[in-house]
Amino acid sequence: MNDSAKVKERIEQLRGEINYHNHRYYVLDSPEISDAEYDELMKELKQLEEQHPQFLTPDSPTQRVGAAPVEAFGVVEHPLPLLSLGNAFSREELLAWYTRTLKLTGEKQFNFVCEHKIDGLAVSLTYVNGQLTTGATRGDGFRGEDITQNLRTIRSIPLSVPEETERFLHHYNYPPFSKSLIIDTGIIAGQAGGEDIAQNQTIIRSIPLSVSKEAPPRFEVRGEVFLPRAGFAKLNQERVKEGLPPFANPRNAAAGSVRQLDPRITAKRPLDIYIYMLGYAEGKATPPTHWETMEYLKSLGFKVNPNNSLLTNIEQVEQYYHTWVERRESLPYEADGIVVKVNQLDLQERLGNIGHEPRWAIAYKFPPVQGTTRLIDIGISVGRTGTLNPYAILKPVSVGGVTIKQAALHNEDDIRRKDIRIGDTVVVQRAGEVIPEIVGPIKSKRSGQEKEFSLLEKILNSDKQRPACPVCGAEVVKPEGEVMYYCSNAACPAQVQERLEHFVSRGGMDIRGIGKSQSAMLLKERIVKDVADLYYLKEKKEQLLELERIAEKSVTNILNAIEKSKQTPLSRVIFALGIRHIGEEMAELLAKHFSSIDRLANASREELMSIPTVGPKIADSIIAFFQYEANRNIIKRLRKAGVRLEEEAVKPEELPLAGMEFVVTGKLETFARQEAEARIEALGGSTGSSVTNKTTYLVVGVDPGSKLAKAQALGTKLLTEDEFLSLLKQK
Ligand code: IVH
Repeated sequence: MNDSAKVKERIEQLRGEINYHNHRYYVLDSPEISDAEYDELMKELKQLEEQHPQFLTPDSPTQRVGAAPVEAFGVVEHPLPLLSLGNAFSREELLAWYTRTLKLTGEKQFNFVCEHKIDGLAVSLTYVNGQLTTGATRGDGFRGEDITQNLRTIRSIPLSVPEETERFLHHYNYPPFSKSLIIDTGIIAGQAGGEDIAQNQTIIRSIPLSVSKEAPPRFEVRGEVFLPRAGFAKLNQERVKEGLPPFANPRNAAAGSVRQLDPRITAKRPLDIYIYMLGYAEGKATPPTHWETMEYLKSLGFKVNPNNSLLTNIEQVEQYYHTWVERRESLPYEADGIVVKVNQLDLQERLGNIGHEPRWAIAYKFPPVQGTTRLIDIGISVGRTGTLNPYAILKPVSVGGVTIKQAALHNEDDIRRKDIRIGDTVVVQRAGEVIPEIVGPIKSKRSGQEKEFSLLEKILNSDKQRPACPVCGAEVVKPEGEVMYYCSNAACPAQVQERLEHFVSRGGMDIRGIGKSQSAMLLKERIVKDVADLYYLKEKKEQLLELERIAEKSVTNILNAIEKSKQTPLSRVIFALGIRHIGEEMAELLAKHFSSIDRLANASREELMSIPTVGPKIADSIIAFFQYEANRNIIKRLRKAGVRLEEEAVKPEELPLAGMEFVVTGKLETFARQEAEARIEALGGSTGSSVTNKTTYLVVGVDPGSKLAKAQALGTKLLTEDEFLSLLKQK
């Protein structure tokens, strides 16, 4: 062996050892050597790699830290959407889910896996030929952000997994499981190929052996990245020392850490991960149950929560829940409930999803964290569409480790309904959400001095003559039939700021680099007066550069992001404009129907109301928006700047349901048949009134007629209402 080969061998040996000890330390929590011994190994490896850079590989344990900052995150399309979970807040809701699941599957009994629902953020990790290639956030479920460089710094995420048994056992010398299992694997692995693993119902130790210890050539796992309580406390202490604002809770801290543009910062945060699911796997059989899949992933080196349990009946699930309600505070991480999953993967498949949520799992939430404090006053903030929003100003109180000073109060009716009075002792609750809320007053603690709240009284102007916007002093209106009061001045600084923030937000024009503080500064310095001004910022580059707290590089990034946003699809432009009552879904519907801003702006009330789901409230709001001179002016300047205000015409044959014929039978619960048909046609599908051999799908509602029998005879594919809805949603 020549010198070079010897060096290479030593490097590989060191990597094997370091990976092994990393796994013992970060995944199994049971180190075998001292930190000093570990540092020695690492030092030697670093030295060798520096001297022989030809042997450096991206999966070397030395490569977890130190990548240069990225300018902005790229987008990752998830091959399979990342779903969220339905919630159960009570025993009844859990049992209802269970009964429904029994009924839908026709089973008498099934096994569950119960896990903690950790409050962190969901990530997806893709491995190709054994190497971690992509790490992404959940994003909107379909597209996330590429945070690979940051996730690589988390020690409990393997950078590579054994891709073939040979290399795994001998070359890597990196056993991510106990010695006895390795020997087992060595024997069994050779035999496993071709074995019918679906037959193998046994659990735990036998499982990993039923599949050989190699990862599929291409697969994706999902898990929760979190900051353990201890790390969170320490991080906040340091931040306070440095004069930085502390993070509100571990979830925010984890999310903030993972979305750092500079991976070196992420590397300093003690983040951890538990893998909770195999997303997809190509080219290799994987186990038939969730539990076995987790065992298998463990054997590949992934970190799986040791508190997961395989349970055989719903009573045990309740037991598991109660055990952890009692012990949640003693956990090293924050959990806001348990996740109950159907164990059999074929049952999961049969159960499928409804919308964004799987029917085969449910989050059974822990009781919310509550506290009591005094309601000092009720303040008013002004929202994007001018809504006057009351909020509670509280005597600071620590609830579940977080200090709460303010809470949402929604609207005046809500305050009345709950009979909340200023001066009351109130119960506040933090249910995992960022904004805490007020549950209600403790009436027994009243002294009689408490004051009922009147929004109108609160906003009387200085001469007490008329109500006025607390920010700009303009007239306040309450449209008929609405519970909210509005500031009537669209140029109200509070509204303008909220609108600007909404315009640049991710669901809108997605202009990165302009957040709350940047919006405030741009408005304050009068560099921007409305959203259209953003597109003329290029001419004001000098002024931008003078702004404190915006670096030259950020200016370039912001200008690039603005340029890119000109190609934003029409539906998102409509949403970004912030028309009252127009959410993302409605904006999409309007974009499809009108395919141009001008046509939308000029539509009559009748035309608007002829669109299914557009009622008078929405129609009037659209008309009012486009009647307003300032808004017309914004549109004009957006157009002049080159923002796309027309839908690119899609050829009918390119629409997602092109070539498919649908027939609907029976009554649908979500919408009238006419509307269902309109939606199918909007997506390029055709609709028929009777089932023929040309029919692609029969959508079956309640009380289906003879069409169902006909479809069954012809072998036509059937869709339940839920399946139909998720098909529409998908497309
Ligand atoms: S399973 C299809 N298991 O909860 C179901 N999720 O609302 C996918 N979460 O964003 C999720 N712990 O990030 C699952 N043991 C666990 C979890 C868990 C936390 C998060 C997850 C997701 C959210 C679902």
